[in-house]
Amino acid sequence: MVPTYEVDSFSEDTKAFCTIDKRAGVYKQRVTSRDVKIEDKIYQADEWMNTPSIILSNIPRRLHLQQDHPVAITRQLIESRFPDYKTHNNLFPVVTVGQNFDSLGFPADHIGRSRTDTYYLNKSTVLRTHTSAHQADTFRANESAGYLISADVYRRDAVDRSHYPIFHQMEGARVWDRDALDAGKSFAQTVWEDVAKIPKHSITVEDPNPSFHSERNPLQDGHSAEEVEAMGAHLKRSLEDVVVAIFNAAKSAAADAGETPDTPADEPLKVRWVEAYFPFTSPSWELEVYWQGDWLEVLGCGIVKQSILDNAGVPNKLGWAFGIGLDRIAMLLYWIPDIRLFWSTDPRFLSQFSSTAPIQRFVPFSKYPACFKDVSFWLRSSTSAAGGLSRNATTTSHDFHENDVMEIARDVCGDLVEDVRLVDEFVHPKTGRRSMCYRTNYRSLERTLTNEETNELHGRFCQQLVEKLGVELR
Ligand code: PHE
Repeated sequence: MVPTYEVDSFSEDTKAFCTIDKRAGVYKQRVTSRDVKIEDKIYQADEWMNTPSIILSNIPRRLHLQQDHPVAITRQLIESRFPDYKTHNNLFPVVTVGQNFDSLGFPADHIGRSRTDTYYLNKSTVLRTHTSAHQADTFRANESAGYLISADVYRRDAVDRSHYPIFHQMEGARVWDRDALDAGKSFAQTVWEDVAKIPKHSITVEDPNPSFHSERNPLQDGHSAEEVEAMGAHLKRSLEDVVVAIFNAAKSAAADAGETPDTPADEPLKVRWVEAYFPFTSPSWELEVYWQGDWLEVLGCGIVKQSILDNAGVPNKLGWAFGIGLDRIAMLLYWIPDIRLFWSTDPRFLSQFSSTAPIQRFVPFSKYPACFKDVSFWLRSSTSAAGGLSRNATTTSHDFHENDVMEIARDVCGDLVEDVRLVDEFVHPKTGRRSMCYRTNYRSLERTLTNEETNELHGRFCQQLVEKLGVELR
């Protein structure tokens, strides 16, 4: 089912797709059939289309640009640590499969490409799943040695307090040009001189692994150990500096509130580097921070695959890239308990943040009651229908994907659903059919829901499970 969009004006070439309705003497143009309009662009949907209208309607929000929004303040805080980097904060969220996956070397069968994980408009067009989608183009544009890209990104995922299908990332990259070194200086020397310019910190950093490892985290062909050691050090020191700035701000917010059971204000910050894997960097690492008694993964990074720079027409450059999730950082900076709050337009939420005041812990305006409801259903045992969401589909055990349940919950309930969780699952010993039970937690962040409202939401949720997935309620 493809949403229909009403719009006020069209360009000449767009008119080809439109019919005109005459209502009350006014011509209103209407995009028909399988065209999807996103801001001023039209996309032709095909059978790959799986983006619900609730997602499309939130595209214009751009929380990372909204004045005094915690996500925007977090972006500014990180940007302030990279004063010489060029920022790109307004890149359009619709990208090609080429930009999002192919240009970065994702294998053809990578799970990230599947319709259960990614929002497609058509076979070759997606809502970007990460800011890395713009890496190749930004390297090709070749406008600055360092850049930062902040943007909304889209993923089909779980429904809970730390996952939302739209979130925000910042991509950072820094390159050096082998053909533009000062006379007599090596590439590695040049990079080390830049490392020396990064502010020093005094936190404890665990980095037990070697800078690279021939099997687990290899150097790329054409990169020397000295070059990668220097770039790795520049990458790690730059990101440690970011984390120190963020977590010191978070700690003072915590100390102001007088509640720091697990991270006393005087205890030094602890961070650690762990080896990682991304198709578009090698070697690769993740940075984790010890926060509230747990190791928290805050970012991924690595040495940019040379093929990306070669294909972008800058084969003489080498460098690093990182990607950091802004929403989780903002939640921790401000002690925001639920990611849905970012989408609230309630002044009781928005008025608590200011880009000019010191960071202060968010004061929940009230905790409205939650209401749990369970739904149990049978999946079909045979495999007959195609996967993914489609009308009148019959979802079998084979092609059932939990993200389809999550999406129906979002679609029906919007931000009134806090959490959806599988609580029971079994296969009938005789019929071989699979039974699943999901528990849905309904709660508004802004008011108390009435019983009638939750019953009505749950009723529609169950009905949509039947209609869209073809399950049989128990
Ligand atoms: N794009 C990666 C993600 O979303 C993060 C990343 C960016 C990793 C750049 C390495 C380099 O998980």
